Amino acid sequence: MSGETDIVVTEKDVLAALKGVKDPDLGRDLVDLGMIRDVRVGPGKVALTVNLTTPACPLKGKIEADVRQALESRLPAGLEIEIRMTAEVRGKGAAETGDIPGVKNVIAVGSGKGGVGKSTMAASIALGLKAHGAAVGLMDADVYGPSIPHLVGASGRPMARGDQIVPVEAAGLKLMSMGFLLEPDQAVVMRGPMLHGIMQQFLRKVEWGNLDYLIIDLPPGTGDIPLTLAQTLPLTGAVVVCTPQEVALLDAARAVAMFRQLRVPLLGMIENMAYFDVMAYLQERGGPQARQLVEGKACFDEEGDERVYLFGRGGARRKAEAMNVPFLGEVPLNLFLRETGDMGRLDAALKEGSPSKAALMGVVEKLAAQVSIRNLKNPKMPKLEILN
Ligand SMILES: Nc1ncnc2c1ncn2[C@@H]1O[C@H](COP(=O)(O)OP(=O)(O)O)[C@@H](O)[C@H]1O
Ligand SMILES: [Mg+2]
Repeated sequence: MSGETDIVVTEKDVLAALKGVKDPDLGRDLVDLGMIRDVRVGPGKVALTVNLTTPACPLKGKIEADVRQALESRLPAGLEIEIRMTAEVRGKGAAETGDIPGVKNVIAVGSGKGGVGKSTMAASIALGLKAHGAAVGLMDADVYGPSIPHLVGASGRPMARGDQIVPVEAAGLKLMSMGFLLEPDQAVVMRGPMLHGIMQQFLRKVEWGNLDYLIIDLPPGTGDIPLTLAQTLPLTGAVVVCTPQEVALLDAARAVAMFRQLRVPLLGMIENMAYFDVMAYLQERGGPQARQLVEGKACFDEEGDERVYLFGRGGARRKAEAMNVPFLGEVPLNLFLRETGDMGRLDAALKEGSPSKAALMGVVEKLAAQVSIRNLKNPKMPKLEILN
């Protein structure tokens, strides 16, 4: 043995050193989860890949640090350690259960009532996952009030290819919406069976291709569409958006109960419009006088935050806890978020410099983690039989 560079360990040593290093969300050893790949050993050197279950993993940095720490502390000193972080979204296999071929996860976003920001959250989730590098589709199932095309600045009509429909693409997302098929002032007048037919076509006849996540913006409430979707294919799970207000929470509880009845797993609840940050607003938009007026004076809550809880405080978090649904986070009211949505540039709200970026990305990452947890716990959801 001449020097440090001659130290040789085996692949077995490396895997043994990693014993006990867990994915904190999944609660199991990385090795057992098959997340440690391409272990290569050479004189003085170890290289490996950690293959995460989602590129939007909120704990990527921690997992990398834990792996490095375990290797450094349990293998001989002086080894050069190279860790590559990759991700591959896991999902259910398409073949057996009537899933959409190539689509790994289907996530429905619902709400108890309208106007709580459900479409804004659905589109933000899609854009956030996309920003992390995932392949994402966004389907607008709110046939009565399709707003997805507008939020992401998509226009035009989907093209037909044979008997298939080619989705419209905008902001890096594959999109399908009733909005693409209607004139701007045309109303949708349809009964349940027709809606069922449209949902079937959106899911089965659209060339979604290979997607890690297909996000579905449901109409508000507990009507025909969630039922028809749950009957059509096994959903990975549902997200419920609500505001902290009591009436919104009561309706959100009904939405949660509906998903439970349909045996759709609940991936989490989002508290939108959680508060309005006055200081941030004045710094962003206020003139010098407004700033002076507030400086030193503003104190709207007991912690001294310059926050106004317009719809009450923390109601959705408490409700989620009470109903045993994961809480995905608070998204404050923000002018820029509203404006980007209105301008068809919601993607800008997820980018650097956006005051809403941190809150939205927090929700996206928590949701991605819940999807991974679900896929590990319940690899297969039975499809709901038609309940006629
Ligand atoms: N966190 C937020 N901050 C500011 N405006 C928001 C926020 N969430 C939603 N909005 C705005 O509220 C309105 C309703 O949102 P939308 O997503 O269309 O709700 P829904 O789909 O539940 O009816 C939109 O004008 C949207 O831009
Ligand atoms: Mg909407």
